[in-house]
Amino acid sequence: MSIHSDIKKVTVETFKKMKASGEKISILTAYDYSIARLADEGGVEAILVGDSAANVMAGYETTLPITLDHMIYHAQSVSRALQRAMLIVDLPFGTYTANSSQAHDSAVRVMKESGAAAVKIEGGMEIQNSIKAILDAGIPVMGHLGLTPQSINQFGSFKLRAKEESEAEKLINDAKLLEELGCFSIVLEKIPAALGEKVSKEISIPTIGIGAGNKTDGQVLVIHDILGLNKNFKPKFARKYLNLHEQIVGAVSDYVNDVKNQSFPSSEESF
Ligand code: KIV
Repeated sequence: MSIHSDIKKVTVETFKKMKASGEKISILTAYDYSIARLADEGGVEAILVGDSAANVMAGYETTLPITLDHMIYHAQSVSRALQRAMLIVDLPFGTYTANSSQAHDSAVRVMKESGAAAVKIEGGMEIQNSIKAILDAGIPVMGHLGLTPQSINQFGSFKLRAKEESEAEKLINDAKLLEELGCFSIVLEKIPAALGEKVSKEISIPTIGIGAGNKTDGQVLVIHDILGLNKNFKPKFARKYLNLHEQIVGAVSDYVNDVKNQSFPSSEESF
């Protein structure tokens, strides 16, 4: 329970209990106060302030350009909205891979300045020292394996990862290492469903899938995708629950017409 309300906040302990009981964990991204409030009210266990903000909020092709300052700004806005959901924030590209003290400092800034409850970082054994330094500071870490968009220039495309046995084996070893280091959960992005299931069975911390089948311990999606805000982006793994693109464009064009034909504002809407 927080000192501000009677609503019990989701924590890393809740994640642990949910894995043990088999209850699936639902996570969505959000980047601003108003949408985060709605997602929290809708009942997700956690909000991820993903570096996908670079794509959906800022219009970049990749997640690489977003900075730590930008992420902290988004996280502060989301933090003010949350009553129950746990706030997890991505450390962006180039803020944790140089060495463990860089990782420590970036994570501490996020926690101090945004009120986050955990950070997420991409990668396996290559970043183990960074993970250790963040965990040693008392900060919960969510890992991220499979398609890790910050490495897009190494991958060359956003295709399915770990189809080949050697990459699948590395992913399993990385997942076990992240568990051993003390990560509280791991995002598995765009990998075969059978591999998502295998990893979820072999480790004791919750796996959160995005394009990893329905046998992971939870799911995460970008909120813009489930709301249908971009008609040209239809990833196979995302389910569209609304068609807000059509509804918003329709509402805006109705408004434009009403202004032009002077039916807005009416006498009731005037002083
Ligand atoms: O940045 C992001 O939104 C993410 C998730 C989609 C897992 O990392």
